[in-house]
Amino acid sequence: MTTSTARAEVALAVARLAPAAVVLLAAPLLLDVAFGEPGALEELHRRAPDVLGKAALCTLVGSYAITPIATVTGWRWHVILRRDYGLWTFAIAMTDLVLAATLDEHGWRTGIAGTAGQAAGTMATLLLVPLALTSNRWSMRLLGRDWKRLHLLVLPVMLLVALHLVFIGSEAFAVAFVSVTSVLWALRLRPVRQWVTRARKVRA
Ligand code: HEM
Repeated sequence: MTTSTARAEVALAVARLAPAAVVLLAAPLLLDVAFGEPGALEELHRRAPDVLGKAALCTLVGSYAITPIATVTGWRWHVILRRDYGLWTFAIAMTDLVLAATLDEHGWRTGIAGTAGQAAGTMATLLLVPLALTSNRWSMRLLGRDWKRLHLLVLPVMLLVALHLVFIGSEAFAVAFVSVTSVLWALRLRPVRQWVTRARKVRA
């Protein structure tokens, strides 16, 4: 094994496990909930939308960035992360949705469609369901060309996430999200992709 292959394998292992940090960070609180500590469930409900929302945002952007990164760098070793991060986004956003829909010990819940922000977050999360369900090889083979068409659903997901951030009053995150995803989207356009690939090969 060459040094660069070994480095790529270590980088891949770290990148694949990185989203699990959100579970580790939440572990103390989850243990408190499991052991029935007073106020722990209420605290979980209070902190979950913020922590899970940010984690879902990172994995969503991460998943969308994989192909443009391949275009710019020529790497292929990291392509598996597209599916990994997509599934992480689904798992984290679904947990967010389930917690928002369930009552805490004081009978209080965030709600899933009571405000425009909640409705946009809920719709974005629900649109991830078909993407997650068809993220396996069997579905890819079965759907053929339709698999790619189905995955265009990621665009309304992005739009709904941007609206979610605007409606909950998180303008800074909305601007950062729209700016980064616009650049990533531009890098996916065929003429841009071809130009970047040619420029990379000339420089090599
Ligand atoms: C793909 C799915 C989602 C993404 C990417 C996402 C993203 C985010 C982000 C980044 C934040 C933090 C904003 C900040 O700190 O300024 C946040 C907060 C929040 N999200 Fe989401 N979210 C998603 C799904 C949901 C769902 C399903 C719900 C509930 C129905 C929800 C409800 C909330 C609430 C209530 C907040 C807290 C607002 C506050 O702190 O005042 N989100 N979300």
